[in-house]
Amino acid sequence: MMFARNRKTVVVGIVLVALIMFLAWRLFRPMNIFVVSEAFERPVSTVGLPPSLQSLSAKSCAGCHREFYDEWATSIHSQAWTDPYFQVDWVFDGELQICKNCHIPLDRQQEHKVTGFNDQEKWQPILEPNPAFDAQLQHEGVTCVACHLKNDKIVGTFGSGSAAHPVEKIANSNEICFKCHVVGGNRWDTFFRFPPCGTVAEISSTPGATKDTPPVAANGAAGREAAGPGDMSPDCIQCHMPLVERPLVAGGQVRAVRKHLWRGGHDPETVKQGLEAVLREAPAPSPGKRSFTLTLTNTGAAHYFPTGTPDRHLTVSIRLVDQSGAVLREDDYVMKRSIMWRPFIVDLWDNRLPRWQPRVFRFDVAPRREPTAVAVEARVRYHLLDEDRRRRIGYENKEPIAYDVFRASIALNREKTN
Ligand code: HEC
Ligand code: HEC
Ligand code: HEC
Ligand code: HEC
Ligand code: HEC
Repeated sequence: MMFARNRKTVVVGIVLVALIMFLAWRLFRPMNIFVVSEAFERPVSTVGLPPSLQSLSAKSCAGCHREFYDEWATSIHSQAWTDPYFQVDWVFDGELQICKNCHIPLDRQQEHKVTGFNDQEKWQPILEPNPAFDAQLQHEGVTCVACHLKNDKIVGTFGSGSAAHPVEKIANSNEICFKCHVVGGNRWDTFFRFPPCGTVAEISSTPGATKDTPPVAANGAAGREAAGPGDMSPDCIQCHMPLVERPLVAGGQVRAVRKHLWRGGHDPETVKQGLEAVLREAPAPSPGKRSFTLTLTNTGAAHYFPTGTPDRHLTVSIRLVDQSGAVLREDDYVMKRSIMWRPFIVDLWDNRLPRWQPRVFRFDVAPRREPTAVAVEARVRYHLLDEDRRRRIGYENKEPIAYDVFRASIALNREKTN
């Protein structure tokens, strides 16, 4: 009897210790936050390029495709390596090689060749010095050839026969985007709907959505590859590469082409265009009370608003102010994807805006109890990242990390003055 009880205690003890050790390991081990797929497990090989394309620098393409170059040079793709936030974050995360395969994807952009992997999950590549490394090219980040190379040819939608280089025609140029922007993440130890890094995979949560589509259940991409090459619906190019008529090269045939701008979170105008915000007075809920609503709708982004890294978020504040502008009362909201990282990666909640699903924030005022109040103000701000995270990783930003996307106010005495 005594013996049996002891044995039970020992077994329970062993199980407990094992569990604690397991959780401790989960707390400290390096974290693999996405699944390394074949699409980006290695840098892109440029070995077989034809002699007419020996210089891969965007500057050499600029010799003939000036406007495309000038646009690209203003885009975040051209800064995907030099971007100071990326650099600080990359160092903070331990300078992993895998990050390079999207931020500087060409083999010549990387100091090392990847000759194999030490682990099954392909987070620990076997590296060898790369004699073809080109430091200049590294600084071009997601350079022209990073998107335009396929089967040792330059991909495009025209299949031009008069180019100065071999051309391969592709039917759906959105496929170019998926490689880096739609990443899978299903693993036994992750509990998110789609992985947290560099992805707009949530787009498939609203497949083929139109204005009349009822709200879609938020179960989305779990269990399958998100918007894949066969899925033509998420037309990234339509929104992120505006149409323009011009020749590809000076003096060439005028064609309908795409501006190489890729504006997103770093561009307040793009973000504002995606959001419809209305502050208005609603019917009074009860005598002596007034009610105001702020309605936010994602009308301009096929994916969530905001999308991108989980750093991106919106803050909403609705406040009551007095004559001097002092805040009497304030309601604050955060619209964000919140993730628990350890011991397991778990999607806690995600209250960002799916397309065409209005979100209403209500704010009630009792004028008699708040006699000094003169106006209700609403303000929506877009944040590239959290102040907390900025401090934690030691990123000293030169550019602001947050900006207003909407501001409005309603004077409370409006009825009297009318
Ligand atoms: C010596 C001039 C020259 C250089 C350098 C050059 N191109 Fe071209 N490219 C052309 C010409 C000419 C065309 C065809 C224009 C037409 O058909 O209207 C073309 C076509 C293209 C197309 C469209 C292909 C299609 O048919 O859809 C792409 C994409 C392209 N070039 C990318 C690049 C990139 C990337 C580089 C740099 C690695 C580059 N080009 C360097 C001259 C050049
Ligand atoms: C080789 C990988 C790669 C490909 C291919 C690629 N991107 Fe990107 N893209 C990136 C990286 C990396 C960043 C982030 C750079 C940074 O902020 O440091 C980015 C950023 C962006 C942004 C965000 C801009 C901002 O202000 O933050 C947009 C929009 C975008 N890409 C659209 C596209 C579209 C559309 C395509 C397809 C035509 C595409 N990308 C193809 C890697 C890629
Ligand atoms: C599968 C491709 C891919 C890989 C691998 C990848 N990234 Fe990215 N990264 C992107 C894309 C695409 C974006 C832009 C869209 C977004 O905001 O999510 C981005 C954006 C970022 C940003 C935001 C920059 C900004 O403009 O604010 C940071 C920081 C970043 N990546 C760091 C990393 C680090 C560190 C790693 C390695 C652990 C890594 N990335 C691996 C594709 C990738
Ligand atoms: C992030 C990916 C990406 C990068 C980087 C990129 N392009 Fe493109 N480019 C595209 C896509 C996608 C298209 C096809 C757009 C469409 O559907 O017409 C395209 C089309 C073109 C075309 C044909 C005209 C057209 O709009 O179809 C030319 C020329 C071109 N690119 C040149 C360049 C040059 C030069 C650079 C570097 C300065 C560059 N591209 C960088 C994605 C990229
Ligand atoms: C209907 C228009 C529309 C379509 C289609 C669309 N986007 Fe966007 N995208 C936007 C708008 C508006 C924003 C700015 C607000 C936001 O972040 O959602 C944006 C933002 C982004 C950002 C910036 C995220 C960041 O971190 O700053 C990336 C990356 C991006 N989109 C990639 C894509 C890709 C890849 C596709 C195709 C799979 C796509 N988008 C399809 C409108 C669109």
